[in-house]
Amino acid sequence: MTTTTADHNISAQQKAVEEDLVNRVLQSFDACENPRLKQLMESLVVHLHDFIRDVRLTEEEWNYAIDFLTAVGHITDDKRQEFVLLSDTLGASMQTIAVNNEAYENSTEATVFGPFFLDDAPEVELGGDIAGGAQGQPAWIEGTVTDTEGNPVPNARIEVWECDEDGLYDVQYADERMAGRAYLHTDASGEYRFWGLTPVPYPIPHDGPVGNMLQAVGRSPVRCAHLHFMVTAPELRTLVTHIFVEGDPQLEIGDSVFGVKDSLIKKFEEQAPGTPTPDGRDLGDQTWARTRFDIVLAPGAWDFAFRRNPPECQCFT
Ligand code: BEZ
Ligand code: FE
Repeated sequence: MTTTTADHNISAQQKAVEEDLVNRVLQSFDACENPRLKQLMESLVVHLHDFIRDVRLTEEEWNYAIDFLTAVGHITDDKRQEFVLLSDTLGASMQTIAVNNEAYENSTEATVFGPFFLDDAPEVELGGDIAGGAQGQPAWIEGTVTDTEGNPVPNARIEVWECDEDGLYDVQYADERMAGRAYLHTDASGEYRFWGLTPVPYPIPHDGPVGNMLQAVGRSPVRCAHLHFMVTAPELRTLVTHIFVEGDPQLEIGDSVFGVKDSLIKKFEEQAPGTPTPDGRDLGDQTWARTRFDIVLAPGAWDFAFRRNPPECQCFT
């Protein structure tokens, strides 16, 4: 659904007043010496004014929006990033990912990064357990990392992180635990394997303004069950993605941050208690699951670090 100002019954004189303002704001950027900054600011102004004019924004609504953004800022700290949640729930994060990760041949699709990555997770050996004490159904995850021509990628770094069976990441507990996360490297044949937990659906933090917004519009804060991956290797595009769980009922309802891609939905095959495990691990009378995720990296290095630790901002410095 798109409306334009033409749909509104406004006089030619009123239209001229509104357009004159847009043009004067645009002209205010004429002296900007940074062409990219100029483009960003001009486009922002065009779209922002279009929005205000299309919805005929009331002053009360404008005040409400300012209060909302203020609340988003107030709840944000080094552990809680409400602006990212806002971007995620509006689909802006996934749109940015789409724009920057154009499909390349058979490369694995990217999805949202989320706020729960830590860059000091422990390393595990191939076949190691990333649970680190997090509770849940054990899951054996294995696969290969190759380039788009099928060549194995040895020594690729694979970061994985996930929540426990209660839907909480380690960082959401008050103690200093580190669990449900680790990194490992592919072997000489580009293969990897590790024990993790069968992912479960969980809500994004929704006790703040973004949660209020979701409730007001009748949306669920729940994310489809997933396990996060970030895969890096020299000369190849860094991949930030998840795998989702086939049969997860939340897939029908929808993912609160629009992160699901069909190609990333994997079958977690449940194994009866006593079924021999691939590495001989004794799981007693527990059920366990296994899945396979073969990862294909697109060519071209991309320095992922800027997302977490921006280099000098080229816009406002
Ligand atoms: C997550 O997958 O961890 C996540 C992603 C977006 C918002 C909140 C959580
Ligand atoms: Fe997550």
